[in-house]
Amino acid sequence: MPTLLHLDSSADRVTSRSRALTAAFASAFSEAGPDNVVVHRDLHAAPLPHLPDASLHWAPGLRPPGAIPDPAAEELQQRLVAELLGADVLLVGVPLYNYSLPSSLKAWLDHIHVPGLTAPSALSGAPLAGRPAVLVTSRGGDYDKGTVNEGRDHATPVLELILGEEMGMAVTVVATGLTLASGAPSRAGQVARGEREYADALRLVRELGRRAGSGPTAPVPAPEL
Ligand SMILES: Cc1cc2nc3c(=O)[nH]c(=O)nc-3n(C[C@H](O)[C@H](O)[C@H](O)COP(=O)(O)O)c2cc1C
Repeated sequence: MPTLLHLDSSADRVTSRSRALTAAFASAFSEAGPDNVVVHRDLHAAPLPHLPDASLHWAPGLRPPGAIPDPAAEELQQRLVAELLGADVLLVGVPLYNYSLPSSLKAWLDHIHVPGLTAPSALSGAPLAGRPAVLVTSRGGDYDKGTVNEGRDHATPVLELILGEEMGMAVTVVATGLTLASGAPSRAGQVARGEREYADALRLVRELGRRAGSGPTAPVPAPEL
């Protein structure tokens, strides 16, 4: 059964664009095949604890001598790792908070980035290599080249580094920006562009969701924005 793991982390339950975009992707994925399964985890509504013990960063065989993590914490981590390993496609809603990730999403990342389990190590291969991961980012400002914010989005690069470079997943980023333009008089001239970016992103996630749900051999293509 093709399975999508769908994560949201926006603290906005009403007007969130990342939530609207991930929901559109997930609907398209579901509609693409009768057996398609969506596992939804709302990291804001049901937050995970911070990683309680540094030794949990490592698979059991790689932990420092004497490390005895709390069995309940280890059981939660195993559940999260199994959820990720069991998914054919990962979809993550990534609102930009203080130029970084929401802490709820960071807590998930700290739990699932485990050398020896999800990331390659001397003990293991790369179980997630080539698996598609779609990041849907939503930012209040303008992060284009040449703007004052260029290079200040520290959320997407971290996820690309961990999911893509460390774990080997095939990462696609769908970005929508200027989400706060309508509330800022100084950005009144950018409202239309923000709306256009959102409309483009919506079309793109519907197409990516449909393709991702059409079978394990249908790769998630690079966006054409
Ligand atoms: C706590 C918080 C911090 C934020 N920090 C930034 C920021 O550093 N840069 C930015 O461009 N927008 C920032 N914003 C605006 C959000 O990125 C913007 O509202 C975005 O649309 C949030 O995603 P969502 O629509 O999925 O909720 C912040 C919003 C909140 C709630």
